[in-house]
Amino acid sequence: MIQGTVNWNTKITQDWLQNYVDDWVTFYQKQTKDGEVASYIPILKEADPKHLGISILGNNGLSVRSGNVDTTFTIQSISKVFCFIVACMERGVAYVLDRVDVEPTGEAFNSIMHLEMRKLKKPFNPFVNAGAITVTSMLNGKTPDEKLEPLFQLLEKILGHRPSLNLDVYESERDSSIRNRAIGYYLVELDYLESNMDITLETYFKQCSIEVSIDDLAIIGRVLANDGLDMQTDEEIIPRKIARLAKALMLTCGMYDASGKFAAYVGIPAKSGVSGGIIAVAPPRVREEVLPFTEGCGIGVYGPALDNQGNSIAGIKLLKHIATKWDLSIF
Ligand code: DON
Repeated sequence: MIQGTVNWNTKITQDWLQNYVDDWVTFYQKQTKDGEVASYIPILKEADPKHLGISILGNNGLSVRSGNVDTTFTIQSISKVFCFIVACMERGVAYVLDRVDVEPTGEAFNSIMHLEMRKLKKPFNPFVNAGAITVTSMLNGKTPDEKLEPLFQLLEKILGHRPSLNLDVYESERDSSIRNRAIGYYLVELDYLESNMDITLETYFKQCSIEVSIDDLAIIGRVLANDGLDMQTDEEIIPRKIARLAKALMLTCGMYDASGKFAAYVGIPAKSGVSGGIIAVAPPRVREEVLPFTEGCGIGVYGPALDNQGNSIAGIKLLKHIATKWDLSIF
């Protein structure tokens, strides 16, 4: 029997889960040394590269947390998922998909190449910067704060508290983001933006600076695992069609130019951010063995040491390990 699976006669207990996950986090924490914290947004350099933490919240109420569980961090690119969801809720799916495609790029998150090649008549997908900034420009409202209010309200509804905005991170990105401004100008030239460029970029930098914890990501992940339904209240917080579309995009585009490998080796929808966060979503599945979280779960990971694609280096390895041991793959 592989480590981490359970005898038919054994009940999955909290202690059993905790011991395994603690061991795995301790093991993968050593691999944080192979990555580097992001430095192109100056303040992100201050993160401790040795940190690694995970929080898993199951549909059956079972939960496990391990490692650096109390560090909060900015949501960064994970916000692209929720911005896309809010834009679809405000404007309708057809409107949004008329203006941004759903194709993976196989290129870096901040690549400008596809805009220049004009292979498609719109940005490739809402999770690369060009697509995300375009989606941000579609949000209702005149000011960045007006545009982001529905996003905050959605997160507050799911989490039960309103997340804060990390102003230091926001200012650090606003004052350093040459590439995103270049993308912004390109989008203006192509006539893709629906709001003024400065307002759109300010909104984008602010949405990236929302402060979260791994527990927050696990709670939100669980709502996505249930196609937008809050299991506790039975309320549909995100329309099912939009939640499922967001998950399809997370699976195909969520880890940037490592999305194919993540789908092949981990096999669950996920989205990373450059501060080292990952949200991952394991939908309910039918398995004959007794395995944890077969009813579905949301997962939050934090590990600020990144690989070359800008994803948490140890976080991905830890997720791969857990998904293999507990057969989380949707395939
Ligand atoms: O656009 C940026 O540069 C950041 N605010 C977000 C990028 C990001 O998180 C990429 N993720 N791996």
